[in-house]
Amino acid sequence: MIMRLLTDGIGEVDLRDIGVYRSRGGYQAVEKALRRMTPQEVAAEVNTANLRGRGGAGFPAGRKWSFLPNDGRPRYLCVNGDESEPGSFNNRMLVEDNPHLLVEGVICSSYAIGANFAVIYLRGEFYEGAAIMNRAVAQATEAGYLGEHILGSDYSLHIVVHRGAGAYICGEESALLESIEGKRGHPRVKPPFPAVAGLYASPTVVNNVETLCCVPSIVNNGGAWFAGIGSPKSPGTKICSISGHVRRPGNYELVMGTPLRELVEEHAGGIRDGHRLKMILPAGASSAAMTPDQLDTPLDFDAMAAAGSMLGSAGLIVCDETTCAVKVALIGESFYAHESCGKCTPCREGTKWVEKVLARLEGGQGQPEDVDLLKSLVGEIGGGKCLCPLGDFAVTYLGSALRLFEDEFIAHAHGHTCSHAAEVLSA
Ligand SMILES: Cc1cc2nc3c(=O)[nH]c(=O)nc-3n(C[C@H](O)[C@H](O)[C@H](O)COP(=O)(O)O)c2cc1C
Ligand code: SF4
Repeated sequence: MIMRLLTDGIGEVDLRDIGVYRSRGGYQAVEKALRRMTPQEVAAEVNTANLRGRGGAGFPAGRKWSFLPNDGRPRYLCVNGDESEPGSFNNRMLVEDNPHLLVEGVICSSYAIGANFAVIYLRGEFYEGAAIMNRAVAQATEAGYLGEHILGSDYSLHIVVHRGAGAYICGEESALLESIEGKRGHPRVKPPFPAVAGLYASPTVVNNVETLCCVPSIVNNGGAWFAGIGSPKSPGTKICSISGHVRRPGNYELVMGTPLRELVEEHAGGIRDGHRLKMILPAGASSAAMTPDQLDTPLDFDAMAAAGSMLGSAGLIVCDETTCAVKVALIGESFYAHESCGKCTPCREGTKWVEKVLARLEGGQGQPEDVDLLKSLVGEIGGGKCLCPLGDFAVTYLGSALRLFEDEFIAHAHGHTCSHAAEVLSA
């Protein structure tokens, strides 16, 4: 079911204008939090809401905030707007079309955790998004929602918008912190986690854009209200980005727990004319493929994991029967081979090796032993052997495709051709 909590007004009015945003109830959460609530009360509402991180892992935001040590060091909030997962474009829409909602979420969340400095980190390619965010921050400062003594209170907050340089790995939270500090975007060894030693070695919360955009409605309506929306264990809404072979690709904000079928067949208009669904990569290139018999899976963190895949940041890539499973693997692996930061051997060497094997399969030079070789490489690279999850991401789809569409890989290896293409052409 569609529920426009974060996307309300997008495409209808210009929410980039602070006057328009305020005329629709914008910044009331800031007024309420700073005038009538303590930081602990705001954090308690977010805890009650059971707001789970929208950046991929679904970790409860309130719990993450509670890990910050109380030792007098400054605290920071870093907003993860790196959004580089192929297939995901929901953060971009929020940044470009509802920037004040993010600013409002950052103010309420920073107040709750006691941070006086926040960074909105945007992927390098979000040139326009960064300009829009900077304008929103300037408007909010002029209106008295940012800066010193916000709304006459004791609380002060400054926001800096920081653009990355276009690296997927900078979406990993510790690489993101390195990048803000001006270093190469390499993941840090954990522990210590950012809550203990994050930005400039101080206690830091890293949350996704969409996660923080949920906070104003939680402050306005209460955590219990939010917890009552959608799946009990994954409450709230999720903006699903859907692309590929559907009639109406785009972003759809759905109540958590909405069946995958409703998104694909109803909102996205179903598979393009004359074709049938082959598979869905529900969390972009780094997720295990799902098949048509899994269309009744509810779109929430736990149900998608139980179905053998993940909700992630809900960047769904839909493929019809004309799609070659081996080619999808090759495209994904080339991406990961390029984006690997090179710090660990299985990821640095393995992704390039897998890419080479897939390229020769696709190029008609496959060897009969290539399928077993790929299977063993999936095991050597994945399964938590690397410093950060990119190593696992790099072989998750491939592992699922080798299970679900093994015949296609075998045909490539033995027939030195894409049997799949031949089948589609002759149909
Ligand atoms: C390779 C890699 C890329 C990631 N990219 C993003 C990203 O673009 N945006 C994001 O919010 N989280 C991303 N994450 C997850 C972050 O490390 C982190 O868990 C998240 O920002 C926490 O926010 P949340 O709890 O609000 O979801 C990525 C993780 C990995 C390993
Ligand atoms: S898994 Fe890959 S991206 Fe992550 S730290 Fe290791 S080499 Fe870098």
